[in-house]
Amino acid sequence: MLEIRDLAKHHKLGRVAVPALDGVTLRVARGQFVALYGPSGSGKTTLVNLIVGLRIAPDRGSVKVDGRDVAAMSRKEGDEYRLHHLGVIGHPGILQPGATAVGAASVRLRMGDVRHADRAIVPLLQRLGLGDRLHHKVEQLSMGERQRVVIALALSTGPQLVVADEPTGSLDTENSRKVLALLRDLCRERHVALLLATHDPEAVEFADEVLELRDGRLGAYAADRSPVLAESSPPD
Ligand SMILES: Nc1ncnc2c1ncn2[C@@H]1O[C@H](COP(=O)(O)OP(=O)(O)OP(=O)(O)O)[C@@H](O)[C@H]1O
Ligand SMILES: [Mg+2]
Repeated sequence: MLEIRDLAKHHKLGRVAVPALDGVTLRVARGQFVALYGPSGSGKTTLVNLIVGLRIAPDRGSVKVDGRDVAAMSRKEGDEYRLHHLGVIGHPGILQPGATAVGAASVRLRMGDVRHADRAIVPLLQRLGLGDRLHHKVEQLSMGERQRVVIALALSTGPQLVVADEPTGSLDTENSRKVLALLRDLCRERHVALLLATHDPEAVEFADEVLELRDGRLGAYAADRSPVLAESSPPD
C-alpha cells in the first residue's frame, strides 16, 4: 500500500540546507501497523509531510501509495488522494473550534459531498467510545476524547492508508494506550495500512513492526533498551 524508496529531503533555512531525510526506504502493507520511532528532529514529520504531499516534494526518491507516486500527482489527483485514500492523524488542535464532536469529525465527509454526513459519522464515533459525547463541543471534550474525534475524522472517508504523527503527544499514559489500541484495532478491521511516527517507546509496543529513524536514516529498533532512561541515567 505504502512504498517509500530512497527518500531524501532537506529544508532550506535562508542559505542553509538543513538535512531531514537521507535515503529512507520502507513499506507498509494493508492491515499492517508500522511504527517509526525517532527522537526529536530525526525527520518524522518531514516524512509524514512527504506522504501527504502538499506543497512539499522529495529531493530524491519516491513515495508511492497504491502504486501511485504522490509527487507526480496533479493537483486534482492529489486532492482526491488526500481526501479519499489517506487519513492523517495529528494534534487535536486541528479540530474545528466551536464544532460538536459530530460536526468536527464529519468535515471530510462533507468535503466529499457525502449526504447526511452528520448521521454517517455517528457509528464511527460510537465505535470510538464517544456515543455519549456526540453533541459536546470540541472545547468541552477531554484531550483523549478530542484525539478520538481526530481518529474518526481521519478514518471517515475510508482511506487505505493512515499516517499518525505523535497522536498521543498530549495524552497521559492511560489515554495514550486506549487511543493506540483503538487506532490499531480499527485499522486492522478495515485493512488499513497504518504508519505511526512517535518518540514514545511505549507507543511502538502496539505496532507489528518498529523501525528507528536517526538523523534522517532508518535502522532496526533496539527494543530492549529504553532510550529515554539510557540518555538520562548517569554513567557508572
Ligand atoms: N521548515 C523547516 N525549515 C528548516 N528546517 C526544518 C523545517 N522543518 C524541519 N526542519 C529540520 O529538519 C529536521 C527534521 O525535522 P522534523 O520536524 O521532520 O523532525 P521530527 O522527527 O518530526 O521532530 P519532533 O519529534 O520534534 O517533531 C530537524 O533538524 C528540523 O530542525
Ligand atoms: Mg515531528
